[in-house]
Amino acid sequence: MSVTVIYVPRDTAALAVGADAVARAIEAEAVARGLALKVIRNGSRGMLWLETLVEVATPHGRVAYGPVNTGDVAGLFEAGFIHGAAHPLFHGLTEDIPYLKKQERLTFSRVGVIDPVSLTDYAEHGGWQGLKRALGMHPARIVDEVIESGLRGRGGAAFPTGVKWKTVLNTESRQKYIVCNADEGDSGTFADRMLMEGDPFSLIEGMVIAGLAVGANQGYIYVRSEYPQAIHVLNTAITQAMAAGYLGEYIQGSGLSFHLEVREGAGAYICGEETSLLESLEGKRGMVRAKPPLPAIEGLFGQPTVVNNVLSLATVPLILARGAEFYRNYGMGRSRGTQPFQLAGNIKYGGLVEKAFGLTLRELLYDFGGGSATGRPLRAAQVGGPLGAYLPEAQWDIALDYEAYAAASAMLGHGGVVAFDDTVDMLRMARYAMEFCAIESCGKCTPCRIGSVRGVETLDKIAAAQMGRENHITLLRDLCDTMLGGSLCALGGMAPYPVLSALEHFPEDFGVAAPAATQTV
Ligand SMILES: Cc1cc2nc3c(=O)[nH]c(=O)nc-3n(C[C@H](O)[C@H](O)[C@H](O)COP(=O)(O)O)c2cc1C
Ligand code: SF4
Repeated sequence: MSVTVIYVPRDTAALAVGADAVARAIEAEAVARGLALKVIRNGSRGMLWLETLVEVATPHGRVAYGPVNTGDVAGLFEAGFIHGAAHPLFHGLTEDIPYLKKQERLTFSRVGVIDPVSLTDYAEHGGWQGLKRALGMHPARIVDEVIESGLRGRGGAAFPTGVKWKTVLNTESRQKYIVCNADEGDSGTFADRMLMEGDPFSLIEGMVIAGLAVGANQGYIYVRSEYPQAIHVLNTAITQAMAAGYLGEYIQGSGLSFHLEVREGAGAYICGEETSLLESLEGKRGMVRAKPPLPAIEGLFGQPTVVNNVLSLATVPLILARGAEFYRNYGMGRSRGTQPFQLAGNIKYGGLVEKAFGLTLRELLYDFGGGSATGRPLRAAQVGGPLGAYLPEAQWDIALDYEAYAAASAMLGHGGVVAFDDTVDMLRMARYAMEFCAIESCGKCTPCRIGSVRGVETLDKIAAAQMGRENHITLLRDLCDTMLGGSLCALGGMAPYPVLSALEHFPEDFGVAAPAATQTV
């Protein structure tokens, strides 16, 4: 009797809507009907409105049903879903769902496809090829390959990954480290989590390659404590990779070694900033360190350290396996490759969209997102997390490219997009940005520690329509100027972006009729 394979995600987004119960219900129903089934717990495909998305392997490919609740399970069996039959929750072949079909999945090519903790599945889907090639290369050649790919850090600052590695490679030390930044604190972002839960071996492989490239034999993945599922999956994958000789001593019979451990963060946004993260990893309070020295020269425990985002590291195996040229052929200008965008907020079809740089926000919001969830017109979108600018419709046709966004006083950051409909009060959003900064400030420098508190007060005065509103707005601009220029790190240095963009593009919400000033953010 052939065994039908059913996929039920165990990604946090799916678990949150009852995926475990759905998996149990499918197994129980199969037993009751005397059917032989194998349920594989995969990652999420990133179409979050369809979770729990159940897939059935058929001779024609995987067929999707969603969103499935436990109450739907008996009906699905009745309709013959194990043969891919029609049902009101049927979406046809998963790969043909337009949301997925229109994407260019490179970093996420395996996420949702494989069993995240199956070494065999990973290997059968192209895993370890990058590492195998890297093992036969000179470290400097690995670094050059990453430089040539054009990969830039996906954590927010977009610094060229290979250039950072080169600094670590060229810094003499007996001990070097690879640190993966999995703090993922930006609002509306979840790509790191999805990757770690859906394809943890790709991150492990990327970190081992980074270790070979710069001469580091110890790595840490700093994961936010709010991601228990990711931590569990990573630890399981690390144990397996150790047992299979992809981690530990003598990797794949070579003379090289690399050890990897997971560390849990303590829940502070500032611990995502690389120097605070290093302080936290060292067991101290997460406070920003002044740079220089760069972490690449004096990082963890004072040693040369690569700090890279999850997505940056997880993209490296593909670059090594397919070659720098393959990766850099995607994208535009100096933004090479693909970016996993994350659609959240008031959006009909929220989820993960990996596309080459160069598409527009309008395409993301409408072609993928389907407009607002409320059905009302969209008014603004915040791109790049809590420190990113609010973009009005007039800016939705700018290409999603690091330089084009910087020229518009905005940033792509980690690729998070949070949408708002026309009921949003942009003065309140500006206040929220300042309040966020006040709450999350590490307190080390005055413009951020004091400035953000004064910023909240000033915005409250503007909201209260107190006498002299124009003066308060001038004061707010001055304050933002000081924070932009005088803050030690990008928390205080970029918190003015959402505030000034709200003021610039939505002056009516601040009680100012026309564009408030010629100053751009
Ligand atoms: C306040 C603040 C929070 C940050 N949070 C994160 C984060 O959660 N994840 C991340 O990868 N980078 C974050 N960064 C950026 C890191 O400092 C650093 O640039 C990044 O980890 C480097 O990796 P990459 O080059 O691969 O992007 C943050 C920066 C700041 C200023
Ligand atoms: S800008 Fe804010 S978070 Fe950054 S160092 Fe200064 S006080 Fe700390």
